[in-house]
Amino acid sequence: MTNSISNLELPHSVSLLEKMAAESIENGPFTYVHSGSGNEITLKANIDAFESWQIVPKYLNDVSIRDTSSKILDTTFPNSFALAPVGVQSIFHPEGELASARAAAHYGVPFIASTFTSHSLEEIATHLGDTPRWFQLYWSKDEELAISMVKRAEKAGYSAIVITVDTSLIGNRERDLNNGYSPLKLGKGSANYINDPVFLERFKTRPSSDDKGVIEKIGDVLFNPSLTWEDLRTIKKHTSLPILLKGILHEEDASKAMDYGVDGLIVSNHGGRQLDGCISSLEALPPIADVIQGRMPILLDSGIRRGSDVIKARALGASAVLLGRPFVYGLAIAGEQGVRQVLKNFINDIDTSLALTGCTSMSQVNKSLIRRKK
Ligand code: FNR
Repeated sequence: MTNSISNLELPHSVSLLEKMAAESIENGPFTYVHSGSGNEITLKANIDAFESWQIVPKYLNDVSIRDTSSKILDTTFPNSFALAPVGVQSIFHPEGELASARAAAHYGVPFIASTFTSHSLEEIATHLGDTPRWFQLYWSKDEELAISMVKRAEKAGYSAIVITVDTSLIGNRERDLNNGYSPLKLGKGSANYINDPVFLERFKTRPSSDDKGVIEKIGDVLFNPSLTWEDLRTIKKHTSLPILLKGILHEEDASKAMDYGVDGLIVSNHGGRQLDGCISSLEALPPIADVIQGRMPILLDSGIRRGSDVIKARALGASAVLLGRPFVYGLAIAGEQGVRQVLKNFINDIDTSLALTGCTSMSQVNKSLIRRKK
């Protein structure tokens, strides 16, 4: 299979996309995207959770004109979803994030760039045009470096900072460990570092992305297990951009986030890639929505595969969702065209699901439309 297919028709279900992706790229990168941590209990729970809730539609409303959009912190999500931050995308396709950014821009789908991308946040921005974008930050052990990345993101038109809180260390991804596969060690996520003035100060000459010294240095500073709630005050001092926390699962943390002046939450377990055995995102959502009471936007990811999943997340209290693995499968199969196809099919599915729920806009989707399976 080649990585660029004209007249492309990709399957509509994620399970078939996954199979096609497995045939399109090597086992190392495929396992990296597809697998979860430990025994993959949480990876599975993310999918099962959506099956344990049922939509109860209400009919005979005129649903001939529909609006699937939602607005979060001044950002319009035309279809109530954004692309989740996914690092090291060049292991799936040589164009990596540039291809997925162009596909997102084609549909106006907001893009969240990871700290750990294969192309710099500035270069990704040029491929997004005026499509809304947020920057996901792994708040580094090197505070000066973290602040420098925030400033660069501001300059390149990113309109919110997403701080991922569930990655104090990298999860125990058994299948990658068994394969001996690590994109970090291959230097595939170095672009934001080797283009950063603070990071470069540590090197006499401009290093390449797979320079051993660079990889070692990134490994040293990338994750920060000593991060605390108090550190949020430092971050807030250095930016006027809104801050969202990604990876919140406990309602007490949701409550703390409000105390610390956070602007939004992303309920997520990193797609089952961090703590295996932790709660699925969808099960974590209702108690968090109860605590927040609409005072800040809540997004959700981990296990979103279909339009009806977006309806369920919305009914249980999320304003919008993030899509992870499915778009990466499109990227692995056929680059920009592959991501475009996945997005097109997902957008249609969301629209159809909204109509069949009996609603004309996402704002009508509420608790009355969902019940837990007995
Ligand atoms: C991720 N995710 C992620 N999250 C993050 O905050 N920063 C990152 O750099 C990455 N990188 C990354 C790489 C790959 C290959 C995957 C699959 C995931 C997690 C991602 O943002 C999101 O939380 C999950 O992918 C959502 O779950 P689904 O949709 O994949 O089930």
